[in-house]
Formats: sequence, C-alpha cells, structure tokens
Amino acid sequence: MWVIAGADDVVVAYATIAMSSIDRSSAPASISRRAPNPVPALLIGRLAVDRRHSGLGVGTALVGHVLATAVELNVKAACRAVVVNALHASARGWWEHLGFSPFDPADEQSLDLFLLTADIDATLRRLR
Ligand SMILES: CC(C)(COP(=O)(O)OP(=O)(O)OC[C@H]1O[C@@H](n2cnc3c(N)ncnc32)[C@H](O)[C@@H]1OP(=O)(O)O)[C@@H](O)C(=O)NCCC(=O)NCCS
Repeated sequence: MWVIAGADDVVVAYATIAMSSIDRSSAPASISRRAPNPVPALLIGRLAVDRRHSGLGVGTALVGHVLATAVELNVKAACRAVVVNALHASARGWWEHLGFSPFDPADEQSLDLFLLTADIDATLRRLR
C-alpha cells in the first residue's frame, strides 16, 4: 500500500495492489494469447485522492507508480496485465483516459478494465 500525505500528515491519496489472475477463457485475445491459465496479473485494489486535491495529477502519478511496479514485478514473476474494477462509470472514464481498456468493450456498464504490461512503457511516456 502507498500513502501520500501532506506536510501536516493528513492523507492526500492512497493505492493498494495485490497479485491476482484472469480466467483465460473469458479474457480478450491480447491477454490470453500464449498465456497460462489463469493469466497472472496485478490488481489495483483501491486508489483514491482526497477531493480537496483532485485534478492536480496526484491520481495519475500514483497510477504511474503502480504501473512501474508492475513492470518491475514482471521481470521476476510473470504479470501479463494490470487490472482494476472502476468504482463507477466516471472512474471508468478516468481509467480509460489513462490507457486502460474494458474487458468487454461492448458492455458500457462494465467496470472491469486492464492494461497489458507490454503497453506500460508507452503509457508511462504518454502520462509524463
Ligand atoms: C478518480 C481519481 C482517483 C482521480 O484522481 P485525480 O488526482 O483527481 O486525477 P488526476 O488529476 O491525476 O487526473 C486528471 C486527468 O484526468 C482527466 N479526467 C478526470 N476525470 C475523468 C473522467 N471521468 N474521464 C476521463 N478523464 C478524466 C482530466 O481531464 C485530467 O486529464 P489531463 O491530465 O490530460 O489534463 C479521484 O477523483 C478519486 O479518488 N475518485 C474517487 C475514488 C475513485 O473513483 N477511485 C478510482 C478507483 S476505482
């Protein structure tokens, strides 16, 4: 878990991650291609920014940190993708803005998203 706190020690933002996996049979081809079943992944469990600090790039910076961690992990233990369950439709838009894709693009209500680890470097370059 990462916590960003201000000089007054009040929490500004936090993120949690956990090792996870994706059922290969229901995964998009980009994830399932030549992958074991289940497909190893990194789950972003919780990620939030205090409303008083929203829109300043703190959330994006935190996601960048998580994505860099996924790349590091993938060197030693396979991690095909980073996955997240968006809190609501607006949060889904935010994740898509960062480069995440819905597991089921046809389902506009779906809040399950992923980013291939192979696409993280390009994503990080775009976010900087
Ligand atoms: C979603 C959340 C983490 C965003 O954090 P933040 O620090 O305010 O976001 P940032 O300042 O890093 O992001 C701003 C960028 O996202 C874009 N953006 C913001 N909301 C968006 C949305 N709903 N859809 C698309 N883009 C969005 C802004 O236009 C801006 O783009 P730019 O950098 O190109 O100018 C924060 O609002 C939050 O904690 N929400 C409540 C919890 C939540 O929804 N968590 C998501 C995990 S499921």
